[in-house]
Amino acid sequence: MTERLRVHVDPDKCQGHARCKALAPELFELDEYGNAHEAGDGTVPPGLEDKVWLAKANCPEIAIDVIEE
Ligand code: F3S
Repeated sequence: MTERLRVHVDPDKCQGHARCKALAPELFELDEYGNAHEAGDGTVPPGLEDKVWLAKANCPEIAIDVIEE
């Protein structure tokens, strides 16, 4: 069974620490203020599951949600 993951950044919590972008550049984009949002619709491509959990664990603001679908 392959679990499918989706990532979401809560814009109210994100303070622009950018650790997510450093750890998983494929999954996050930064806006002009340095705040992150998920790339595309947030679907985590196969093979990037470890990176998304790592990014979530390293966000100091606990702004990253990973949804298992
Ligand atoms: Fe924001 Fe956390 Fe990334 S504060 S820029 S979601 S590491």
